Amino acid sequence: MSRMLIVYYSVSNGNTRGIARQMAEYTGADLAEIQTVQPYVGSYQEIVEQGKQEVDQGYHPPIRPLPFRPEDYDIIAVGTPTWWYTMAPAVATFLTSYDWTGKMVIPFQTHGGWPGHTLKDMKTACTGAKICCEGKIQFDSSGGSQMVTDKKEVQHWLRQIEKEVEIK
Ligand SMILES: Cc1cc2nc3c(=O)[nH]c(=O)nc-3n(C[C@H](O)[C@H](O)[C@H](O)COP(=O)(O)O)c2cc1C
Repeated sequence: MSRMLIVYYSVSNGNTRGIARQMAEYTGADLAEIQTVQPYVGSYQEIVEQGKQEVDQGYHPPIRPLPFRPEDYDIIAVGTPTWWYTMAPAVATFLTSYDWTGKMVIPFQTHGGWPGHTLKDMKTACTGAKICCEGKIQFDSSGGSQMVTDKKEVQHWLRQIEKEVEIK
């Protein structure tokens, strides 16, 4: 049985947080939330615009220290909302801050119908990791909290991860 940590970022509705919590229930993994030092403020539309500028500029905002050290785990699941077809900048800060050699990374994203190249970018950011069980969960296209992906599909994916933790 391996040690697993779930690290997630969630801003708009808690969509990614909800998936991360479900994953923690299935796997018994530790759970940690990424938080930026400067919180995003303003309306949804203002955050969408700020996010666009940050993604376009490749900005990696400073993030707060996590309560757990990824170094201490064998498997690290990393969850992000999709921001302009890629991971949220705060998740890019996290992924580029560690050496992933020898770790198993489970990247997952929530999105509103335009998932873009998020998972590919996440994999590129954690060179050296073994990638497993990627997840893509769709919520409604207006940026809301209604899950579009079938619940059963999500449960099937979570069971796969549960098995991975048991056998590794
Ligand atoms: C800055 C910003 C950019 C977004 N860009 C996209 C996008 O490119 N594609 C997409 O499908 N959804 C996009 N969304 C919607 C979110 O990815 C989606 O609502 C996500 O589930 C929110 O997760 P959260 O509640 O955990 O923050 C964007 C939302 C924000 C705030």
